[in-house]
Amino acid sequence: MRQPWIAGNWKMNTNRASAIALAREIADAAAAQPAVRVGIFPPFPYLLEVRSVAAGGPIVVGAQDVYPGPDGAFTGEVSTAMLRDCGVGAVLIGHSERRHILHEPEELIRQKLCAALAAGLEAVLCIGEKLEERRAGRTNEVNEGQLRSALGGFEPGWTRRLTIAYEPVWAIGTGVTATPADAQAAHEHIRRVIGEWVGPAAAMVRVLYGGSVKAANANELLSQPDVDGALVGGASLDAREFAAIIRAGAGQRA
Ligand code: PGA
Repeated sequence: MRQPWIAGNWKMNTNRASAIALAREIADAAAAQPAVRVGIFPPFPYLLEVRSVAAGGPIVVGAQDVYPGPDGAFTGEVSTAMLRDCGVGAVLIGHSERRHILHEPEELIRQKLCAALAAGLEAVLCIGEKLEERRAGRTNEVNEGQLRSALGGFEPGWTRRLTIAYEPVWAIGTGVTATPADAQAAHEHIRRVIGEWVGPAAAMVRVLYGGSVKAANANELLSQPDVDGALVGGASLDAREFAAIIRAGAGQRA
């Protein structure tokens, strides 16, 4: 069985004090729901302190990005070894804001995914279609293309460390979510494509939904059979709201 995973992507939000306070509250909420895996992805400068708040508790602390090269003249970048050195166990790869605001190319996303998994990090590969692509009926095609590109070079031994986050671009930060049925259809298709790389082990790979998840819609999204959790942006900055989403992950009313 896939343990539900509720992950908070803080993006470029919080400050040092609020990050630590939020991490403390989320650690308490996570401890109250041991059936759910809880993760947080704070900004780079706060990773170490957030990690020490989380130490000894159940929450996974991850980074929002990583550079594929081992070291060297890459100004502004952070390597997989640096993350591991700071006790960071997971990383987001190919988030839609990196794809569409920072114009990160698919080949770089592929390299980042391989580097993270090869280094022993857990990777959450984010994929999803834009509104015009959904309207043109191309959701599965776009998801499949992003998966095929990112998984070039994927090794089956990495399967346990791979998570996919399906985040329709039009749902991120907009207050609009996919219907539970649309999310389920996309997740089912994603799992089928993953199966081409890992065979029956695709049943182990978590596929999270992301895009305006909040306490009010978490139950119905998380009740879908192939929705294994949520990647939460805005609502993860509010500890009470995020705690309610964690409860929904445990099958309780949010
Ligand atoms: P949102 O962001 O929950 O604010 O829509 C989700 C994400 O970008 O991961």
